[in-house]
Amino acid sequence: MLSPILRSATMSSTRSQLNAAAATRLSSIQRHLSTTPSGSRIERMTVFGAGLMGAGIAQVGAQSGLKVTLSDVTDKALENGLNIISKSLSRVAKKKSPDDIEGFTKKILANIETTTDAGKAVEDTDLVVEAIIESIKVKRDLFGFLDSKAKAECIFATNTSSLSVTEIAESCGKERQERFAGLHFFNPVPAMKLVEIIRTPQTSTSTYESLKEVTLRIGKAPVTCNDTPGFIVNRLLVPYLLESIRMVERGDATPEDIDTAMELGAGYPMGPFKLLDFVGLDTTTYIAQGWRGKAASGQISKELVEPIELLDKLVKEGKLGRKSGQGFYEYENKK
Ligand code: CAA
Ligand code: NAD
Repeated sequence: MLSPILRSATMSSTRSQLNAAAATRLSSIQRHLSTTPSGSRIERMTVFGAGLMGAGIAQVGAQSGLKVTLSDVTDKALENGLNIISKSLSRVAKKKSPDDIEGFTKKILANIETTTDAGKAVEDTDLVVEAIIESIKVKRDLFGFLDSKAKAECIFATNTSSLSVTEIAESCGKERQERFAGLHFFNPVPAMKLVEIIRTPQTSTSTYESLKEVTLRIGKAPVTCNDTPGFIVNRLLVPYLLESIRMVERGDATPEDIDTAMELGAGYPMGPFKLLDFVGLDTTTYIAQGWRGKAASGQISKELVEPIELLDKLVKEGKLGRKSGQGFYEYENKK
């Protein structure tokens, strides 16, 4: 028996009807939460990583009135992040404040400060969202360092696509592990409505409630998942993306025809190769590499994550997708 939301999604599959179903679900959760006691309120957020995801997360936080600190390892990376945010804000402003695009953009940017000093970035913050490179070692090093710098009540969250949140959290002390969860946003953050909240066995209920509340406050729809490889979306999406590259390697069809097929035949907004370029071929490679370890312990099927020569070759050549100007396709403007 299908639940009402599933039944309506199956029977009426146009994009606007699906969007309406998602909006209804979002407002019903918002109503529910307004009458449900939650954990402590988050007002200040620090985002690590000013790349595709970190910039987007900082932006949507600032748009919802949070005071945001954006941190990265170099000034150049911070500049890149602020550029991503400014471009995106001018799109948002055209809709929200067409008569005062500059004023709107300035007001949101005023909620964002930047620093390369990681310790300073977490002074007095309520929430850390980490969106740095998809490497367990680098993420654990960062959180291990931040644990002694942030206040005890601060919640730590990782935006990892595929790594174990529990293993990342174990870089921190026991008490922080109760205030640690996954907060998985989707690309492009300003446009994608979903956030997956990943609870580890140690995540406390009050941490979970605070994250759910802040997710709704920034206008996103939360879903909850256990700490399993890829959570909900990537567990289904990444094997599909990898299999599309194998189709090209086998000579079954071209990237262009596969994209057209999935866009027109399955109604996806982007075919798999446009999406691979959008997500970043380096990020996709890190996910597949990380999952090979999980395959060895039987958590995911080995065949799904076998190495793919074509993908490895493009990454080695620095063809990372839109962000580098070339991936499966070529782009005039890097994003
Ligand atoms: N900033 C602000 N707004 C943006 C934006 C950005 N960077 N990108 C898109 N938008 C907004 C547009 O302004 C527009 O808003 P309105 O409908 O209110 O006018 C809306 O999003 C649609 O954009 P466009 O009309 O320009 O273009 P489109 O209809 O082709 O949509 C898209 C663009 C939203 C990116 C769409 O192609 C899409 O949904 N693609 C699939 C993206 C996807 O699957 N993302 C998940 C990747 S996997 C992941 O993120 C997880 C992981 O761990 C790897
Ligand atoms: P990206 O390459 O665009 O940006 C990563 C940023 O992290 C860079 O600016 C880099 O300088 C910075 N960085 C590296 N080490 C750092 C450190 N120790 N401290 C501070 N900053 C550091 O990557 P991205 O696509 O934004 O991905 C970031 C995270 O989000 C990854 O975990 C990825 O798996 C996840 N994610 C990516 C997508 C996507 O579609 N790209 C979607 C959801 C989640």
